[in-house]
Amino acid sequence: MQHYNFDNPPSRRGTKCYKWDCQPGELPMWIADMDFEVAPEIRSALQRRLDHGIYGYDSMGEDWYDAYLGWWRERHGLCMERENLIFSTGVVASISSLVRKLTTPNEKVLIQTPVYNIFFNSIVNNGARVLESPLRYDGDNWSMDFTDLEQKLSDPQCTLMILCNPHNPVGRIWSRGELAQVGELCDKHHVTVISDEIHCDLTAPGQGYLPFAAVSEVCRRISITCIAPTKAFNLAGMHSSAVYAADPVLHHKAWRTLNTDEVAEPNTFAAPAAIAAFTLGGNWLDQARDYIWENKKLVRDFAARELPGVKLRVSDATYLLWVDVSARTKNVQNFTERLRAETGLWVTPGTAYGAKGEGFFRMNVACPRALVEDALERLKGFLTDVG
Ligand SMILES: Cc1ncc(COP(=O)(O)O)c(C=O)c1O
Repeated sequence: MQHYNFDNPPSRRGTKCYKWDCQPGELPMWIADMDFEVAPEIRSALQRRLDHGIYGYDSMGEDWYDAYLGWWRERHGLCMERENLIFSTGVVASISSLVRKLTTPNEKVLIQTPVYNIFFNSIVNNGARVLESPLRYDGDNWSMDFTDLEQKLSDPQCTLMILCNPHNPVGRIWSRGELAQVGELCDKHHVTVISDEIHCDLTAPGQGYLPFAAVSEVCRRISITCIAPTKAFNLAGMHSSAVYAADPVLHHKAWRTLNTDEVAEPNTFAAPAAIAAFTLGGNWLDQARDYIWENKKLVRDFAARELPGVKLRVSDATYLLWVDVSARTKNVQNFTERLRAETGLWVTPGTAYGAKGEGFFRMNVACPRALVEDALERLKGFLTDVG
């Protein structure tokens, strides 16, 4: 089997890279993309498309459908129907479009905070209101608060929920029981679920996730699922994703709104990237998961040994660590600003994901191990200085 190297990617500085176009000496570990080079199998497919030399309008071929259907059937146990899958240019584009289609002005959209910050934008920018059901933290683990969830879902103004499965930033893979209960409660209160599953392939080695639509007939019927190869295979700039809805009415609404918003047409590289990822990328992905897992353990062990008052779980999914510094600060925004100013280490304050994120920061460890080690030394120095 081919062995892939994650230790020595090319530098991204000066490449108009959102993450790395920062001050010299700064170490950015905030935005969610990887510093790893894309799998050679995917780069070859893109090169072949480039070499064709003509980049006119493209359509989705059968191989695009087959690639998605095969990957989700074999990796994740979800059998999707070809006719229920729609191309879209991105998960955020899809969610924003769906919010506008599935709510009337001022209706409420439920999200479980702390959660991916852009959900807030997709909701308010499209005329709806955010309804937060905060997750519960017991000092070690995060879980859903079903009492609060049911109370919020029972508000007749709440018509939509955006589920993050697996969850960014806390890194949970939701269990079958939890997802089934979400489905039951949403069905009972006539709430449609958008399940954002963009992080689903970035699970711990040997561990899978459960697609919401695969949990029960109810979950399948009331949901629209957003999936993509872009997080797992580091292809965010390809603008390539898909929306799946099994229910004919929801499928029609999704198809209509994605087309109305003109986010259902691919660029030249969107389909070849997805096809190569889902048909040829499995080995690369599994090695990337192993590498990320080791990075996460490195942070956990270093924190336990060298960073008093810093706590974290090795998250089950995502390449993100959700680090508890509540014993060190009551103002994480200020803490992360000082951390950046004084050491150059750039992480995201937990409050970016809702007030419930106070006391945490999010750190992306999808990068060479040497950078993780560098980050840990910076953090250690900072904590020693602040006392
Ligand atoms: C939960 C979640 N959804 C969506 C996205 C972005 O998706 P896209 O680039 O397809 O818009 C991210 C990126 O970090 C994310 O974490």
